[in-house]
Amino acid sequence: MSETVNIKYGDTSLDLPVITGTENEKAIDISKLRASTNGLVTIDVGYKNTGSTTSAITFLDGEKGILRYRGYPIEQLAKDADFLEVAYLLINGELPSQNDFDTFKSDISLHTLVHEDLKHFFTAYPLNAHPMGMLCSLICSLSAYYPDSLDPNRSDAEKNLTVVRLLAKMPTLISWIQKKSTGHPIVYPDNKLGYVANFLRMFFGQRTDEYFTDDVLVDAMDTLLILHGDHEQNCSTSTVRIVGSAHAPLYASIAAGISALWGPRHGGANQAVIEMLQAIHNDGGNIDKFIDRAKDKSDPFRLMGFGHRVYKNFDPRAKIIKVKADEVLDKLGIDDPLLEIAKKLEEIALKDEYFVKRNLYPNVDFYSGIIYKAMGFPTDMFTVLFALGRLPGWIAQHREMMEAGQPIGRPRQIYTGSNERDYVAINKR
Ligand code: SDX
Repeated sequence: MSETVNIKYGDTSLDLPVITGTENEKAIDISKLRASTNGLVTIDVGYKNTGSTTSAITFLDGEKGILRYRGYPIEQLAKDADFLEVAYLLINGELPSQNDFDTFKSDISLHTLVHEDLKHFFTAYPLNAHPMGMLCSLICSLSAYYPDSLDPNRSDAEKNLTVVRLLAKMPTLISWIQKKSTGHPIVYPDNKLGYVANFLRMFFGQRTDEYFTDDVLVDAMDTLLILHGDHEQNCSTSTVRIVGSAHAPLYASIAAGISALWGPRHGGANQAVIEMLQAIHNDGGNIDKFIDRAKDKSDPFRLMGFGHRVYKNFDPRAKIIKVKADEVLDKLGIDDPLLEIAKKLEEIALKDEYFVKRNLYPNVDFYSGIIYKAMGFPTDMFTVLFALGRLPGWIAQHREMMEAGQPIGRPRQIYTGSNERDYVAINKR
């Protein structure tokens, strides 16, 4: 017997179906609401109570701090899997067999080069251009080199090729952005290396010397990319889905996701956390002063890396990253005062009634910047690294939306502007 919710509105009494997910989550399906009530719609600014879709990709439970990709706990994937393996899982729904995984990796290695003409973009960017702005335009511009990818009715083979091209070329483009900022020549991919090692070599390596990848850095980067892989209907993923629902090219949908992720309330927080920790350090480490500012409603200062729309308990990713941060700094022999400030900030905030009452805990961005900084990444590159990790999740969510044949995303609104009025000639105003 399927569940329903009854709503009474004027003379109307309407039973709306309740859908139940595989983890027993419940939602009222209001798709018939407007037609059945002569125009009644719902409104939920920021979608805090509203689901946009069903999905079989990621499950998270904000109260219990649970995160699973296709049913696999994030803790197991972070410990035992490899990022490309997780990318395959997110996009295809199952962990790959060894043969499928080898084919997937080989396909990607055939597409790591980027059209040489894309280099001309870099002569136009100013030196201090933000890497997220460059990445967004470069990814969207890939569509210019692959016109077949513009056809919404293109073959499955073409769709798969676009997915492979995105996964293969984003690391290369990110390394080009880095070389633009340092004025060094680009380092071409070495397809004998694994995905992460290849990326680190292109990013940090120089043409003048052999680059020896450090297993500690490869492992830390691989884990961070896995932890950022997907996160159900977050702001940037919802952006990818809604742009994709218009049947825009996948390159454009991913570029839109990059744009949304750039915001400091979202993926841009990892850069903002380090800037905040550095400001606290420069200010003499007076943590209480910044905690008080974060609580002061008249002060726009927020504790960056704290709080989450869904996690009202700990963010499981933050727990893993915190341990990894200790590990990486220890192995690299780095004693970063910002890590100590971060730990003290977390300790004080988690005892403070303001944060406890609002369920504000460290999120994925709170500690990730500490590791990126220890690895030598420039601060303005941190959100680009988040985008690299989230790419397979965006691709998976876009594919799920397209394969479900979902309609174009077009929310309703409630108008609160002027009622009808007549135009007044300018000389009579
Ligand atoms: C990501 O959605 C995802 O899944 C995102 C993500 C992913 O993987 O895709 O997990 C990645 O974006 C993580 C979040 C990174 N952003 C930050 O760390 C920026 C700082 N955090 C905040 O801006 C905020 O917590 C948000 C944006 C993350 C969540 O905002 P919500 O859900 O809209 O919550 P809210 O702003 O309504 O806050 C509720 C209360 C408010 O106080 P009151 O009005 O109740 O008095 O908590 C306060 C807020 O003022 N609050 C904070 C705070 N975050 C919320 N106060 C101080 N510092 C903070 N960081």
